[in-house]
Amino acid sequence: MKATLIDGKKVSQEIREELKPRVQNLIQQDLKPGLAVILVGDDPASQVYVRNKEKACEKLGVYSLKHQLPSTTSQNDLLHLIDELNNNPAIHGILVQLPLPKHLDEKKILYHINPLKDVDGFHPYNLGRLMIGDPIFLPCTPWGVQELLSRYQIDISRKHVVIVGRSNIVGKPLSMMLVQKAKAANATITICHTGTENLAQHTQMADILIAAAGSPKMITGELIREGVVVIDVGINKVEDKLVGDVDFDSVVDKASFITPVPGGVGPMTIAMLMANTVKSAERTLH
Ligand code: GUN
Repeated sequence: MKATLIDGKKVSQEIREELKPRVQNLIQQDLKPGLAVILVGDDPASQVYVRNKEKACEKLGVYSLKHQLPSTTSQNDLLHLIDELNNNPAIHGILVQLPLPKHLDEKKILYHINPLKDVDGFHPYNLGRLMIGDPIFLPCTPWGVQELLSRYQIDISRKHVVIVGRSNIVGKPLSMMLVQKAKAANATITICHTGTENLAQHTQMADILIAAAGSPKMITGELIREGVVVIDVGINKVEDKLVGDVDFDSVVDKASFITPVPGGVGPMTIAMLMANTVKSAERTLH
């Protein structure tokens, strides 16, 4: 069997098109959604991500404010900037691009963002709301994965979803989203990680396998059953080439659906960031 490709680029464009009338509606009410992006240092991958986020704002008519700070920025200066943005009514979303330079306390900085402007969904308040099934902002990448599944009509209710990876950004929040007793969820979840013994035994039970471990091509054909849906969240640079966590060539003939890298989950993250920013602006009206 040759898997159907899940086209994240196309779906992300559809989502951005759906956001346009909502942005227009806000602008008619003199409310232009605004996103502040803070980039500390000169990590080249982060610079590309931030540029893409700015471009997405431009295309959608969202105000974007970029703060590019030197890698020597102090913790206090960064906290003060976040205070300022927390109090700026033109800003509805604040995003601190990760990773941060080592001398900065990532937790302290992320916890300082007003949860009502936390469009990344990384604040413990938002993660807690997500856990009890009453979210404000869903973290962008897990939400993107959920949207891909639902827009390809891949029903996960009562299915076994195996997630490989336990990060706070993807694995853990995604597991919480998919396990909820809700229409687009209701799955049984297994989370595997570097401490999992006999990985294959778990991954072979998956109806849907989500690879989010940050380990290039680790999911090979032997790890999966025939007909499984494979979602690859990995973005790894190997010899100047982008590869996922899935060994695409050995999986594509066995899977029923698969996301490519690039062009799968990646573009969804930015689309969902835009959705959270628009939602945040809309919330100020209620
Ligand atoms: N670095 C890599 N991915 C992300 C993301 O989704 N949000 C932030 N803030 N930083 C990142």
